[in-house]
Amino acid sequence: MRISILALLSLFGLLLACTPSSNPQPVESFDPLPWLEKGSMVQASSFAVLSTKLKGVMEKQGIGEAIQYCSLSAQSLTDTLSRMYGCTIRRATLQTRNPVNQANDYEAAILADWAADLKAGKELTAVVQELTPDTVMYYAPIRMQPLCLNCHGTVGTEITAANYGLIQQRYPEDQATGYAVGDLRGMWSIQFVQ
Ligand code: HEC
Repeated sequence: MRISILALLSLFGLLLACTPSSNPQPVESFDPLPWLEKGSMVQASSFAVLSTKLKGVMEKQGIGEAIQYCSLSAQSLTDTLSRMYGCTIRRATLQTRNPVNQANDYEAAILADWAADLKAGKELTAVVQELTPDTVMYYAPIRMQPLCLNCHGTVGTEITAANYGLIQQRYPEDQATGYAVGDLRGMWSIQFVQ
């Protein structure tokens, strides 16, 4: 009798061991650190490429040519960088010049958090999100610098009427003016496949 109860118990134990609920796998936790590092590297080099090219054209050919250069090359440059780094790089904003850069709901939520941080005098920091089991998003803030105001500052003072005419020809629905140095202009939004 004693033996059969023991045998039953061990059989029961074996059965339990085989059911998934009694044999839990450790939950794989998402580690944002490597993505923060990767994202910050891609973001920094994309910013360097875009702003170096922009500065070069502004210095050699003037702001009018630089507007044309931006409108022709900004998208193709980010596409080239995306292929180079094997991810999808874009710039997103709530106040667009090019409507394709309109922030989606995820991006808009982070931009709102950063705007609140800025108001509270806090530093703005990059954010990593596991969007789906396959995709990780990296977001970093884009702030206004003195050079940017030539095309994103106040129309009539920082942006000449002639240059704003050129901008409006290409972007009739432009909303990307009126910024001051330090303002939050938008974000780098970089999608990695994991
Ligand atoms: C010579 C004019 C010029 C200067 C200077 C300039 N931009 Fe722009 N910016 C543009 C144009 C034109 C576009 C639209 C590009 C496109 O069609 O994708 C744009 C688009 C953007 C966008 C994408 C979002 C949107 O509204 O379409 C961001 C972000 C941005 N600029 C940030 C900056 C920052 C930061 C600086 C300074 C480092 C800067 N810009 C300097 C002309 C300029």
